[in-house]
Amino acid sequence: ICENVPPYMTADQTSFAYTSLYKRWPVIITQAIDAVFRAIPGASDELKTKEGRKIVEALSKLKYEVQHNRVLTPLIDDGLPDVAHYNDALKKFGEPGWLQVSWLFAECYLYRRIATYFTTSTKWKDFDVFLGSKLTTLRSSLPAILELAHRYSSVTNPSTFTDDTSRLLFHEIFLICLWGNATDLSLLTTISYEDIQSLQGSHARKESEKNILANDLDEVFKLLTSLKESKSDRRVDIVLDNSGFELFVDLYLAGYLLSQGLATSIVLHPKSHPWFVSDVLPSDFGILLNALQDPVEFFINQNENEEQKREMKPEDVDAVKSLFASLAQFHAEGQLTIRPSPYWTLQDPFWSLAKEENQSLWTDLKESELVIYKGDLNYRKLTGDAAWNPTTPFEVALGPIGKGSGCRTLALRTCKADVVVGLPDGTDERLRKEDLDNAEETGKRKWAWSGKYAVVQFCDGKL
Ligand code: F6P
Ligand code: MG
Repeated sequence: ICENVPPYMTADQTSFAYTSLYKRWPVIITQAIDAVFRAIPGASDELKTKEGRKIVEALSKLKYEVQHNRVLTPLIDDGLPDVAHYNDALKKFGEPGWLQVSWLFAECYLYRRIATYFTTSTKWKDFDVFLGSKLTTLRSSLPAILELAHRYSSVTNPSTFTDDTSRLLFHEIFLICLWGNATDLSLLTTISYEDIQSLQGSHARKESEKNILANDLDEVFKLLTSLKESKSDRRVDIVLDNSGFELFVDLYLAGYLLSQGLATSIVLHPKSHPWFVSDVLPSDFGILLNALQDPVEFFINQNENEEQKREMKPEDVDAVKSLFASLAQFHAEGQLTIRPSPYWTLQDPFWSLAKEENQSLWTDLKESELVIYKGDLNYRKLTGDAAWNPTTPFEVALGPIGKGSGCRTLALRTCKADVVVGLPDGTDERLRKEDLDNAEETGKRKWAWSGKYAVVQFCDGKL
């Protein structure tokens, strides 16, 4: 079935792919150029300076190639295991230009190609070209972090809830985790820090409930509460998306699930090199935990943005530190772990998880009771980034990793791309009409591009 539905292509002017290629990617590459340029040390380190200039040149060339539909060149061999996988695909496509490939392939290739400039250097190997913007947005998320930190001890207290309040709390924590995805940095080319702060508060979350177009959380609540009664080991996995505030809410969810006994271990899956600007790397995990351990140092002393600096009251500091202590304890006891895999930075739809070559990762995921996929890109990969009819059932779009696959999937996704499935009849048509700003936009699913709407979709692949 999956093979019969075509993926979104970069040349499709009605999809967000085209706007991404011409409007977003050049801005993102320019930001990367700036970041490298600013980090070039000068006379104090000649080799690093020389290599830094070479990277700037390579990035500028890449930007030109994107904007002028040049051929996608094979990746140079930087020793990582996925080079042949990308290059074989390029060969199969027959030396395509940037406008002759699927959106998913082009965008993954873009970030993988950028990575090669660093991995083939000697002095820039571990340089995270997007780190600066990640840190800035994490610092700007302080108000929402404080709001949640103050509530942590009550949401993780196992004894105080009736069945009904437990259910409501479950929904709320998952929705916090969902909307934490609304503010990824690859869309930041069009959103301000003030917008981010207003998206993150509790008032905004209430308002946004009507924008969740499909919501299977009740099924997931029933599943996890019934497993709590019947099984002693209950692992939940989170395939992470963005660092900063989103990683914070993912850890918050992890702390909640572990404390409430809704899981006995949580495995987090980060990316292995800088990816889609803001995606979590293992190093981001350490950065966030350090920030929570010493919030005054990270959020105040090291903050260069005078406008963002605000007093942290002693009770704020205490709330953040006790949240840190709880997470650090889960981590130390092996209940909260991170497990990187090169699979997550391939160009493949997740349909390929069930293939022979990915057997070790797939077998591992099947051990889990529930695999939560965060964010837009993960959703695009779950559904093959294909132009499905939007009423197609979620489990159908999952193809070989859907029903009967042995793995349970939950997608928590704010919509930032065209693909969407599992909608009630008529929803897409209604939203297309409502969001139409002018006649020219006809034929575009623009409502799905900005992160305003979301879907929470579950498939029980163990049935
Ligand atoms: O649609 C914009 C976009 O940047 C896509 O390129 C990408 O799929 C996505 O958003 C990244 O968002 P997220 O961090 O939620 O995966
Ligand atoms: Mg992301």
